[in-house]
Amino acid sequence: MRVFKGIQELVTMSGAAKKDGRHIVEADLQIIRHAAIIEDRGVICWVGPESKLKSVLNSNLVSKNKSVIKNKSKAKVVNLNAECVIPAFLECHTHLVFAGDRKHEFELRNQGATYKQIAEQGGGIQFTVRQTRKCSEANLLKEAQRRSDRFLSQGVTTLEVKSGYGLTERDEMKILKVAQHIQNMRIVGTYLGPHAIPEGRTPQDYLDEVCEKTLPKIKKQKLAERVDMFVEGGYYSLQQAKQYYSKAQKLGFRLTGHVEQMSRLGGAEYLSSLSADSIDHLVEVNHDDILKIAKSDSTAVLLPTSDLYLKMNYPPARELLDRGARVALATDFNPGTSPTQDLSLVGVLSRLEMKMTLPEVLSAYTVGAACALNHQKVLGSVEVGKKCDFAVLEGSWRDLFYQVGHHPVAQTYKDGQRIFLKKS
Ligand code: NIG
Ligand code: FE
Repeated sequence: MRVFKGIQELVTMSGAAKKDGRHIVEADLQIIRHAAIIEDRGVICWVGPESKLKSVLNSNLVSKNKSVIKNKSKAKVVNLNAECVIPAFLECHTHLVFAGDRKHEFELRNQGATYKQIAEQGGGIQFTVRQTRKCSEANLLKEAQRRSDRFLSQGVTTLEVKSGYGLTERDEMKILKVAQHIQNMRIVGTYLGPHAIPEGRTPQDYLDEVCEKTLPKIKKQKLAERVDMFVEGGYYSLQQAKQYYSKAQKLGFRLTGHVEQMSRLGGAEYLSSLSADSIDHLVEVNHDDILKIAKSDSTAVLLPTSDLYLKMNYPPARELLDRGARVALATDFNPGTSPTQDLSLVGVLSRLEMKMTLPEVLSAYTVGAACALNHQKVLGSVEVGKKCDFAVLEGSWRDLFYQVGHHPVAQTYKDGQRIFLKKS
C-alpha cells in the first residue's frame, strides 16, 4: 500500500470517463488541487485533496472489492513533489515488432512514387516481412524492448502491439510471442495476419487458412486479445473482411481494423455495425460513415503521423467529435507509413491539422485509447478501482502537445510502481 502526495494539480480525467470520452471540454479533466492518491496492490483505493489524507487514513478505508484495507500504518508515503500528475497514456495502435527500416522508400516517395506503386513492385509491407522473417526472436525482442522503453519515457504504460510482418502462421506467432516478452509495459497483443497477401499465395487461400486454422490456435494459446485486418484495394476486400471478422467474433476476439485509409471500401460502416472496439485511420470516411461511427460503441482511432508521412489528407476529426464520436489518437508506429514514436508530434498535428482542442487530445490519449483497447474499466483515468498508472510531469498539462519533441514526463508509474525516472 502506498500513499502518493505532494501533487499540486492532479488531472484525473474522471469527467471524460463519465462522459464515455464524448464531447470533451476542459472541465472534464476534473482537476484536484493539492491532491493525494492511495493505492493497494496496484489499484487506486482513494483519490482526493491532501488535506483529507489524515482522516481518511484513520478511517476504515474500503477497497473496490469492499474489504476493509488493513495495514494502513505500514503504508509507504511517497512525496512526488509534482507540479502536475496525469493518467498514464495508452498507445493503442502500433506495429512495434519488425526488423529493418524503409528509409529507401521514404526517399522514393519524396521523389513522387506512391505507397501502392512501391508495394506493387514488391516493396512496402512485403519488404519488412522479408526482413522480419529472417530475424531471430532474440534480436526482434531486443529492438522491441528499446522501442517500448521509448514509449515508457513519454508516460505510456499500455502499448498495443500488432503482428503483421510474418504472413505465415509461424512467423505471425513468433511476433506475438516477442510482444508478450516485453518488460515494464502492459502489452495488448493484436493478430494482424491479413496485413498483406503472402507472396506466392492467393488472398482467399491464405484467408481460409487464417480463419480455419490460425485464429483458433492464437485464441487457444492466448497470443492476442484482438484481431485486425488491412481492408484496402490491393489488400483485403469488404467481402473478405466479413468472413474474417465474423469468424473472429465467434471465437471471442475483440475487433479492430485498418479501414478507409487510402480508399473507401465500407470497412468503417461494417465494423461499427459489429461494435468493434476500434476503427482506425478513417481518412476517406463520408458523412454517413461519420454518423454511424458517432452513434456506435466503437472508438475512432486517428493516426495523423501516418497521414503526414504519406502526404495524405487528415481524417475529419472535427466532424467526428462534434457529432459525438469517441476519438483516440496513436502513433501507428511502423517502418513504412509512420516511422515515429513521438506522441508530441501526434498531438501537435491533431491540434494544428485536425483542429482538436488540448482537452480533446488529452482525453483521446487516455480515456479514448482505453476504450479503443476495451480496458476502460481499469485504465484511462485516475479514479478509485482503476489501476494506479500515472505520469508525473515536469510542468503543467498545458505544456503537453505544444512543442514537437518535448516530453515533460519526469516519472512514469504502472500498478503503483515507478518504472521510469528521467535522468536529470
Ligand atoms: O497502419 N496500412 C497498413 N498498415 C500500416 C502500414 C504498414 C507498412 O507500411 O509497413 C499502417 O499504415
Ligand atoms: Fe497501422
